[in-house]
Amino acid sequence: MQQFDAIWINANIATMTDNGAPYGSIENGVLAIKDGIIVFVGSRADLPQFDALATPLYDVQGQWILPGLIDCHTHLIYAGNRANEFEMRLTGASYQQIAAAGGGIASTVMATRHASHQQLFELAKDRLNSLLAQGVTTVEIKSGYGLDLANEQKILEVAVELSQHHPINISKTFLGAHALPPEYSDNPDDYIDAVCQMLPTLQQLQLVDAVDVFCEGIGFSVEQCRKIFRCAKSLGLPVKAHAEQLSNLGGSALVAEFAGLSADHIEFLDEAGVKAMAQAGTVAVLLPGAYYFLRETQLPPIDLLRQHKVAMALATDLNPGTSPLCSLPLMLNLACTLFRLTPQEALMGVTRHGATALGLTDRGMLALGLRADFGCYQISQPAELCYQFGVNSLKQLIINGKQIRVP
Ligand code: NIG
Ligand code: FE
Repeated sequence: MQQFDAIWINANIATMTDNGAPYGSIENGVLAIKDGIIVFVGSRADLPQFDALATPLYDVQGQWILPGLIDCHTHLIYAGNRANEFEMRLTGASYQQIAAAGGGIASTVMATRHASHQQLFELAKDRLNSLLAQGVTTVEIKSGYGLDLANEQKILEVAVELSQHHPINISKTFLGAHALPPEYSDNPDDYIDAVCQMLPTLQQLQLVDAVDVFCEGIGFSVEQCRKIFRCAKSLGLPVKAHAEQLSNLGGSALVAEFAGLSADHIEFLDEAGVKAMAQAGTVAVLLPGAYYFLRETQLPPIDLLRQHKVAMALATDLNPGTSPLCSLPLMLNLACTLFRLTPQEALMGVTRHGATALGLTDRGMLALGLRADFGCYQISQPAELCYQFGVNSLKQLIINGKQIRVP
């Protein structure tokens, strides 16, 4: 007789696998877990015999079960806010103008440098709680508001502490090349060298899962980013980039050159860049929150990405400057309304492709042997999660096989 830790029955299961049905759906299905792993997913008729008295059984009465949501691009450890810049932008200043005048990322760097580890932990914990309450089970967090070794380390250590004290799984990305810190305002190349020097130290402290850069006119050039990618590669760390957000510099092709995990934003990406990504298996991370919040008009090349079969992930980009929007379900709605993604594409973007963007192969779908990370939703079809925003239909959340109390 098979042993299970818990079983969910009478469930519609959006497995997000390639089983031939939209969303990889199994109607009226059953899902069973053991030791934090999915050990059965399929129809009731195929469920092996089990000890019915010893196994908790959840009859979810037609609710939908989806993989835990994955937010594969956030900057959620920061202090302060930029509501003043929001007001400035409403009276005509652009994001680039504010950055050039010493605001933007630089102002968040100042606030974050002044904040203690404990203060950053508390601020970030509230943001993680909001994501959790909306069904998110894995989050990527970038540094990048420290811009010197001590402060980048502080941010990444907060990420580690969060991963120890919060049920959400955290993937840590070093984004030292996010902006030029004031100490290096006349020497960008020296700062790139400094970033390369920070990397081995941070890696040794086990603070880095991947390395990101801001490849942009107001960030760093392709050559500067290449230098950082070389350092990352020499340490065996995967790379990704903020690329083609405001102009087409070729940052996405650079990520592809290094067989990187993802190129993110990519509104200005051209076909050559799309092809390079397709060849390298680099994921396109779409960030409709930043597009919306900055009132951008250049759409990412969705049709080209589809044509060349580049996987599209979707994330919040949660940060105080371009996307102070702490909701992955909101991104589902924005991706469909603004980028014209289908609900199936959008949901793939926050599950299966979100996992790929983080290099994680143990989650993002509901299949045998994968992590038991999933949510049960009171909805009539998966598209409802993209269609409506603001009503939380999440009824149960399981992370690593454990029931999570959702606020
Ligand atoms: O993803 N583009 C660079 N980084 C962030 C914005 C950071 C900020 O403005 O504080 C982004 O849009
Ligand atoms: Fe970002």
